[in-house]
Amino acid sequence: MTVTLQTKSGEFKFETAPGEPVLFAGLRAGLTLPYECATGTCGTCRARKISGDCSPGWSEAPGMARFHPDKGDMLMCQAKASGDCLLRVPADVQQRDANTLSPSSIQGRISACRMLTSDVMHVELFLDQPIPFDAGQFMVVGAPGLEGGRAYSMVNHAMETDQLNFVVKRKPDGGFCNWLFDNDVVGSLVTLFGPLGAATFRPEEGFDLLCITGGSGIAGIMSILSHASAIDYFMTHQGQLYFGVRTLADGFYLPELAAMIAKSRENLQVTLALSDEKPSSDRHPDFPDIRLAEGFVHDVAAQSIDGSQENTIGFVAGPAPMVDGAIRVLIANAGLPANRIRYDKFS
Ligand SMILES: Cc1cc2nc3c(=O)[nH]c(=O)nc-3n(C[C@H](O)[C@H](O)[C@H](O)COP(=O)(O)OP(=O)(O)OC[C@H]3O[C@@H](n4cnc5c(N)ncnc54)[C@H](O)[C@@H]3O)c2cc1C
Ligand code: FES
Repeated sequence: MTVTLQTKSGEFKFETAPGEPVLFAGLRAGLTLPYECATGTCGTCRARKISGDCSPGWSEAPGMARFHPDKGDMLMCQAKASGDCLLRVPADVQQRDANTLSPSSIQGRISACRMLTSDVMHVELFLDQPIPFDAGQFMVVGAPGLEGGRAYSMVNHAMETDQLNFVVKRKPDGGFCNWLFDNDVVGSLVTLFGPLGAATFRPEEGFDLLCITGGSGIAGIMSILSHASAIDYFMTHQGQLYFGVRTLADGFYLPELAAMIAKSRENLQVTLALSDEKPSSDRHPDFPDIRLAEGFVHDVAAQSIDGSQENTIGFVAGPAPMVDGAIRVLIANAGLPANRIRYDKFS
């Protein structure tokens, strides 16, 4: 099936496999199609069907809220062609240069799961082939019998690897979370599409790192900090992480963060912000290099950031309200321009 896209920068054609979202087929073909979540929530990938056979897919997708299905509007991350079709995409689209990583469809088998807190799980899986990815990227994961994919950011980083680690925070009554937390899923096969996402760490840019995250938003930030630590980036650059959780007991990946702080010659600072508990000290009882503070993570960050972050880039990830609050802090308090803030909204 051939999909033809009319875009602001010309017409593009690519082939799509049966059941494959139009977005995935276009990205696989090397096009710079617009997207953020790749899972139907943000609305960034909007297209309008002009002719042919293409169904919009998930009818309750939150990303469609502002659009007009009756006029043929659809989300490319949900839409599936069943014959040749023509769509209009209101965006500039280019053919990516050959050096950029291209996403692809792969399979993985879950190899280990470990509870980190009462509602957060660390998940490891092996892929059927190694892939390269940038620190901060995510995959769209499909579980057996579950309609639609879910985005999860890689926690680990390697230039090319067949092992991916994820961290999943349980969403009450969430489809993927119920499958993951209520079953023994070790050994299960999952489908993946990726790597995706532009909230990536590019060491050659040479910026200090200012990261604000809440809950499982730490996933991609761990990948970024692990990569930075592995290449001794903190020998010559500063890093600050504000990590929001509800209580002291909800903190996780603290041994890994403490090890990175120890290696950083005091150039990496980590503050755990507790929204629902007043800490009894300003240092973590088990990891004294990790600072503690009370409050929502973006408020805690706002109190400490003073606007002197000249050569700094901001990374933000987590639930949408937290991300919006943190972006305001990075602009208003840290004085960062919008093009030096990279974020993933876990909506
Ligand atoms: C870029 C990005 C990175 C993320 N990284 C992480 C992470 O590292 N860790 C983490 O815990 N969470 C992450 N999330 C959130 C995660 O993708 C899930 O939304 C969350 O785990 C809840 O999934 P669920 O299936 O349990 O809940 P559900 O409420 O069942 O589903 C949540 C999401 O699944 C998709 N979906 C649901 N039903 C359908 C359907 N019928 N058809 C198509 N799609 C459907 C939609 O995107 C929906 O918002 C990330 C989200 C984004 C956008
Ligand atoms: S990228 Fe399709 S709705 Fe977010």
